[in-house]
Amino acid sequence: MSQRTGNIKFYSGEQIPLELHKARIVQKLHLVPIERRLQALREGGFNTFKLDTKDVFLDMLTDSGTNAMSDNQLGAMMVADDAYAGSQSFVRYQKAVKEVLGKEYLLPVHQGRAAENIISKTYVKKGSIVPMNYHFTTAMAHITQYGGQIEELLYDEAYEISGKHPFKGNMNLEKLRECIEKNGKENIPYIRMEASTNLIGGQPFSIENLRGVRKIADEYGIRLVLDASLLGENAWLVKQRESEFSNSSMKEIIQTMTGLADIVYFSARKLSSAKGGGICTNDQKVFKEMEPLIPLFEGFLTYGGISVREVEAIAVGLYETLDEDMIRQSPEFIEYLVNSLEEKGVPVVTPAGVLGCHVDAMRVCSHIPQTEYPAGALAAAFYLISGIRGMERGSVSNQRDEEGNETYADMELLRLAVPRRVFTLSQIKFVIDRMVWLFENRELIGGLRFVYEPPVLRFFMGELEPINDWPEKLLAKFKEDFGESL
Ligand SMILES: Cc1ncc(COP(=O)(O)O)c(C=O)c1O
Repeated sequence: MSQRTGNIKFYSGEQIPLELHKARIVQKLHLVPIERRLQALREGGFNTFKLDTKDVFLDMLTDSGTNAMSDNQLGAMMVADDAYAGSQSFVRYQKAVKEVLGKEYLLPVHQGRAAENIISKTYVKKGSIVPMNYHFTTAMAHITQYGGQIEELLYDEAYEISGKHPFKGNMNLEKLRECIEKNGKENIPYIRMEASTNLIGGQPFSIENLRGVRKIADEYGIRLVLDASLLGENAWLVKQRESEFSNSSMKEIIQTMTGLADIVYFSARKLSSAKGGGICTNDQKVFKEMEPLIPLFEGFLTYGGISVREVEAIAVGLYETLDEDMIRQSPEFIEYLVNSLEEKGVPVVTPAGVLGCHVDAMRVCSHIPQTEYPAGALAAAFYLISGIRGMERGSVSNQRDEEGNETYADMELLRLAVPRRVFTLSQIKFVIDRMVWLFENRELIGGLRFVYEPPVLRFFMGELEPINDWPEKLLAKFKEDFGESL
């Protein structure tokens, strides 16, 4: 098992990640009894988004807005300049964007999906096609909302759950060219590249690949948009895996990536561990095209719906993205979790990526057809037996097609997010312990069906029910094996 906590070796030879931070503010957690967990699932429609945190032990739903903030971020929040217009906090945010991301013009937005709304509203129209390495739920919902369609153009290896390819998030360049030729460049408002493709296991793209995309974009005169929400971790993996950059600084790598894109947008909830977002560019024309939409949808141009305190925290967080000791912590814990589960036979997406560990529900629940949502069922079952909340990233997270038919996901994954600097190693060991038990008892997990299905982004608010009494049987087996243990 390879681990890389800087240059620190354990005398024992043990290879485990080491925290390069200390906890100074802590939050008490509760692990409620399994009977209460079953009740909580029933109340929440077997949808982990609808659980209350009072019923959740380890919250591995997402890293969005849940990364631990640093002392410097919290300190900066205390000196925020509270002004509707012309806030100096925004000036510091602009400066950070320029110095870290290398972009002159910044439009603040309240979170990542707001950036997706502004960009789609400005450039997407009926009949538009947006090629991308892979979709993200909200990115796709905004594009389709304005009458566009997406085309996902990955290489085949991206769809192999267990693999060794270091850059499964690479855009398939041959398919990109074909897509432009087939649809006509005039129908393609932009190409979207997502750093560390969220929905297929947090897998990065290489800079070599991004350069290839840029070259094609230039040939046809098409804009390149970079979703930089998970840029820091993608850059860190470039440093580990792409030889040209093994001696480069994080700043050089990040700016090489952002320098290849015309528009960069991000969820600051992820990129800089504080709640907000942004769109940035060096192209004044592009900036002016989107600018009027900010006061309309988000707020004035110097806060964009973000509290000024968070604006300060975003600025500091952007600089901290350049700190390798900070950025490596989550991917190293993920690598430990992924490798430990794999060693014990639990099918997971490999190589370990960023954001979280992704368990292959299609294989764990091979007895559950996709029509009964194996990833949703695994998420519910795992919460039931552990109190750990993960997120379904499979067909429940997909949207129906224009005729209302189900579109089944390429992968049925349970994502266990590992937000930065939040969990300890013993908590990660608990995750491994309970997941191994569930894997050994996997035949007791059953399917789900919708009882309430909202038309848009159904995974957030949808409610499901088990197709039979499998949760009760799973609970009984847990009691048999663990007795009164929580
Ligand atoms: C890659 C990616 N893009 C966009 C978003 C949307 O950001 P937000 O949740 O801040 O709206 C996310 C959020 O998880 C994301 O992972």
